[in-house]
Amino acid sequence: MSPEVAVIGAGAIGSSIAYYLSKAGARVTLLDRGEVGAQATQASAGMLIPLSESGGPGPFNDLAQESVRLFTALDLELRDRTGMDIGYRPAALLRVALDEMEEHQLRVQRAWQDRAGIPVAWLDAAGALQVEPQLNPQVRAALYYPNDQQVNPLAFTRALVRAAVDLGLVLKERTAVDRLVIEGERVVGVRIAGDTLRAEEVVIATGAWSSSWAEALGTPIPVRPVRGQMLALKTSGTALRNVVFSNAGYLVSKPEGLTYVGATEEEAGFDARPTAAGVAELLSAVPRLAPRLADAEFAGAWAGLRPATPDRLPLLGRVPGWQGITLATGHFRNGILLAPVSGLLIADLLRRERPRLALEAFDPARFVVRAA
Ligand code: GLY
Repeated sequence: MSPEVAVIGAGAIGSSIAYYLSKAGARVTLLDRGEVGAQATQASAGMLIPLSESGGPGPFNDLAQESVRLFTALDLELRDRTGMDIGYRPAALLRVALDEMEEHQLRVQRAWQDRAGIPVAWLDAAGALQVEPQLNPQVRAALYYPNDQQVNPLAFTRALVRAAVDLGLVLKERTAVDRLVIEGERVVGVRIAGDTLRAEEVVIATGAWSSSWAEALGTPIPVRPVRGQMLALKTSGTALRNVVFSNAGYLVSKPEGLTYVGATEEEAGFDARPTAAGVAELLSAVPRLAPRLADAEFAGAWAGLRPATPDRLPLLGRVPGWQGITLATGHFRNGILLAPVSGLLIADLLRRERPRLALEAFDPARFVVRAA
């Protein structure tokens, strides 16, 4: 079945949904009040590190692992369709412990990952320094994930949209949706600058701004913005070999001779400015992780708003009590990582195919309080 779909929000999630639906033959319009990837997507570091973001086995880990598998195919597919390089590269991860508590957390991580047969190595301080000579010799231990990757989030998102446009997607940037068009218990389209765009299915993929649709739908969409600030250092010649990640922050070498230092987690409403306090927090992590980088030139700072939910899991599925409206939001720290799998699963759902992974854990209905 190939429905007519309007996707609101052209970040990594909305763009991936638009791509997979277009590929399946659906007629899709992708709407954004700004430009493709201009919000949280462009602010992301692009680490694809499922195991550092998973607290244990379960639905989140299954979703993340499936997305990682999809990235490999998607990289080739997007290159073939668009000629674009999405910056998909090996980026092994060292998850380091700076203190006793963090070392304990790493041991807990390692225990479930070993049981799950995941390739992860425990390194003592000497072993970690061998893998990453620039590391602070004071680190206590590290987990080493040799198979992790990174991507350029904006290039990835633009490539999804370019490929989808070639397949027939209608892209409307700088186009704000004023409201949903509702008939009875069905959403039948969106209202844009006095015109109605009718659609059999509408998808809300508006990240940190998603709760703004809750009132019209009379249902909770508990997504709030959590600011992440990041900065860049010029590190040509002193680049790290691995992504270095700890509770204090993370360091990611990017191909253009920069190292990104991320990221704060702040409740700051919709304020997406980098601040003196945020930059100071990030800079204080640099010597703790890789002292030689303290000498690198400061190259800039920025911020993005992560869409957080109360249980830190995304909202993927139909809005309860309604027809014709679906949520794909709330990906918190993992929007880039989860974009491929979210796009594929929402495309399955809207085409009335059985989604290839169970979506129950991500069902928006979990936040609806039912009368006893
Ligand atoms: N995915 C890392 C972050 O949100 O900072």
